Amino acid sequence: MVHITATAADITTSDADAIVVNLFDGVISLTGGTGVVDKALDGAISALITDKEITGKQGEIAMIHTLGKLPAKRVVVLGLGKRDKLNAAVLRQVSATVARHLKRIGAKRAATLAHGAGIGGLDARAAGQAIAEGSILGLYTFSQYKSKKDDQPERDLEYLEVIEQDAGRLPALTAGLAKGVLLSEAVSIARGLVNEPANVVNPVKMAEVASEIAVKAGLGISILHREDMVKHKMGAMLAVTQGSANEPRLIIMEHRGDPENPENNIALVGKGITFDSGGISIKSAGGMWEMKGDMAGGASVIGAMYAIAALKPKLNVFGVVPAVENMPSGTAQRPGDIIRAMNGKTIEVDNTDAEGRLVLADAICYVKEQMGAKRVVDIATLTGAIVVALGHVATGVFGTSQSMVDAVLAASKETGEKMWQLPMFEEYKRQNRSEYADVKNTGGRAAGSIAAAFFISEFTDGVEWAHLDIAGTFMAERTHGHEVKGATGIPTRTLVKLIEQLAAS
Ligand code: BES
Ligand code: MN
Ligand code: ZN
Repeated sequence: MVHITATAADITTSDADAIVVNLFDGVISLTGGTGVVDKALDGAISALITDKEITGKQGEIAMIHTLGKLPAKRVVVLGLGKRDKLNAAVLRQVSATVARHLKRIGAKRAATLAHGAGIGGLDARAAGQAIAEGSILGLYTFSQYKSKKDDQPERDLEYLEVIEQDAGRLPALTAGLAKGVLLSEAVSIARGLVNEPANVVNPVKMAEVASEIAVKAGLGISILHREDMVKHKMGAMLAVTQGSANEPRLIIMEHRGDPENPENNIALVGKGITFDSGGISIKSAGGMWEMKGDMAGGASVIGAMYAIAALKPKLNVFGVVPAVENMPSGTAQRPGDIIRAMNGKTIEVDNTDAEGRLVLADAICYVKEQMGAKRVVDIATLTGAIVVALGHVATGVFGTSQSMVDAVLAASKETGEKMWQLPMFEEYKRQNRSEYADVKNTGGRAAGSIAAAFFISEFTDGVEWAHLDIAGTFMAERTHGHEVKGATGIPTRTLVKLIEQLAAS
């Protein structure tokens, strides 16, 4: 991971492989750090502007070799877009774009202005956080299974020094960078778990990874095995796991941030299907590999708990992941089976591919009955229907507590992880009615994501509950800004923000 530091200095003194200066869209006369560098280059940046070779539009990159006019070898001019549009999201995006550019040109050591801190209108802390998040997450790769080839040496940006002229802003900048590094680590944990194939990250492995993180971060951890699930009558989780050769686990991580007030708590419950073949209602082959990431909700919970442990909010937070593999076999559950969840409700399994809501049902019963959870937010790659509704842009938000939904949406506004609420009108509820059991695990094609949310709501009596369907947002099809092709780590940053905001309110 790129090592990021902050220094109070004049950027023209840097002898890095490249220094990054910036340009707002439409600016003609250069000021600040960019102006000083332009002077040292005898007006080379101004000349590019005059000749309309650069305009400063968002994410634009121009490179100038210094040819001995500065100790640094190259100057990279980064477009920040319109000055009045600059915010943390834009800064995160352009920081990622320029970090990948620096890597591509083989820069090991780079220095950058603290874009946006100052005339950009962002405070130094916010700017630092966005620069760190963009740089680290934009450089994220998942390549440990690629054999290294001698003729293609791995090039990495190793050091990024953020240089701020005004020493008074250094403490805030440094704190912002540290926060950005922490959140990037959390997101990288989530991305890594999702990107790992299902022959590596099975439920047992997921529990091991969670345990290692918990021990390192100072979180409480307990892991339930199959026998514990039998003891607690978790018939829904047991039904999903019964076709798999991999043992199930219920992962429970705990941050005791307010031990005097045990009721001041919240449970983050993340779907942890380490592979979803569909079971006997088997999926078609095309794209089935993506179901190695059907534990993305759980992965985001584990990542978020890592950051929460370091931030120490005054709130008791339970991070809970029902980790199970959904496979077809001679021991697998069948369509038509009737099972009984931990709270005693019977479920007709109409489709074994609607397994996420089954494992969430028991996990939510557990946090309520055994841990005294007062608030629950679940996160799940739950329905293909949410991709139809919101595409790959926004996560669907549902809930029976509007204040929990609002808290989630408020946190998501801060982090830039886009979310959108869908309605839970009572009229949808009947879709889950079963002829033979208390409830059925499918609700037909219409409004599939809402029906799924209503199914989960059968198990949320007595708690403030919100539900996030991330089936459209857990994977990125292309690299853009701080997202790289593959796992996004969504909504790790929003979960952390939510906890911080709940602890502060
Ligand atoms: N894990 C899938 C949902 C999914 C689809 C996640 C695409 C990510 C990308 C979930 O378990 C599932 O199979 N849902 C079914 C439910 C249906 C059988 C009621 C679906 O959406 O088709
Ligand atoms: Mn499924
Ligand atoms: Zn699934």
